[in-house]
Amino acid sequence: MKEMFEGMINPWNKIIRNLSTGSEINGGRGWPYDSYKQEKNISPEKYTVSTIRGIIKTDNPTENNDYRVIMEWMSDPEVARHLRAPIHPISLKDFEAIPEALRKIDRYYYNRSRTDENGNIIYDKPEKITPLIAVNSLEEPIATLVIRWKGNPLVGSKKIEEQDKDKRNIASIENIIVEPKLQSKHVGTVLMAAALDVVFYRYKGYKEKIGADLVRLWIFTDPPAGDYSKNINLVRQLGFDSIGSDKGGTWREYAAARGMSDARDGQQYELTKERWEEMKREDAELEHPRLVLPLGIINEESLRIPHLSNGIA
Ligand SMILES: CC(C)(COP(=O)(O)OP(=O)(O)OC[C@H]1O[C@@H](n2cnc3c(N)ncnc32)[C@H](O)[C@@H]1OP(=O)(O)O)[C@@H](O)C(=O)NCCC(=O)NCCS
Repeated sequence: MKEMFEGMINPWNKIIRNLSTGSEINGGRGWPYDSYKQEKNISPEKYTVSTIRGIIKTDNPTENNDYRVIMEWMSDPEVARHLRAPIHPISLKDFEAIPEALRKIDRYYYNRSRTDENGNIIYDKPEKITPLIAVNSLEEPIATLVIRWKGNPLVGSKKIEEQDKDKRNIASIENIIVEPKLQSKHVGTVLMAAALDVVFYRYKGYKEKIGADLVRLWIFTDPPAGDYSKNINLVRQLGFDSIGSDKGGTWREYAAARGMSDARDGQQYELTKERWEEMKREDAELEHPRLVLPLGIINEESLRIPHLSNGIA
């Protein structure tokens, strides 16, 4: 009887989820989104962010615990559908594929994106990205994202700076992932708020001033992305606005302009420093602010930020 009931419920959930794709109308609080993943009675210490740090480096990438955890998240189809991740999902029982996936993840987190025909790394600019990991009080990684400085995930800084007539410093955020079982518990909001503080107030890599003027990110909006309303709700509640297609805000135009053969549909969002300050001011007046984080939650020594520290990673 129980199985029969579940069999009846599940297709219905799917239909509702499809209907709700991209919808912002219920403010993201509704049933039945991804509820199959949620374990009951998860203790708050599991999903409360206690520190935000950099990647902990190991001599051998295949022994890196951060990478192993991230590989598992990137291999979850419900996560992968939203990302342009450095690896395709792999079976966690495929012991032969795992070491190569971990090496690819290492190359990505150190921004070593290109190799020559002999396999030698020819593009190695770790200082252009700052990965963040949110951990709970048990020191378990529960979420991650990458900040890319001066430009877009796929394009070198000069091009972007030339394009921006106001000469603003533009950072971008990519590959945001919350541990699948701990989603919709505000972990993503806290990690993003920390990233935005780093972007606007902490980064000392720009020549003229501290922090970026603007941050951008992409959200995939095509059928393979499935229900992306959570992504839109996340960025909107942080103050991001979508960039119109007249300004190259859709992935197709963006990819076409750069000669990339990438057929996905995606929408670009941006947030200025002024808007972020406004959001934080409003949030500070709430009883339980989420965007104004406790001092010290970001372990700055561990971040890979030029001129600020040597960092763990
Ligand atoms: C998208 C993602 C990073 C969000 O992180 P999260 O911790 O799950 O999100 P939060 O709990 O902080 O929720 C942020 C807002 O999203 C909305 N939201 C939360 N859960 C939602 C749900 N199940 N359905 C729709 N909207 C939801 C809410 O507006 C929420 O804010 P509120 O509760 O204060 O109103 C996370 O779900 C994730 O890793 N998804 C898979 C990978 C991915 O999509 N990456 C992002 C690419 S842009």
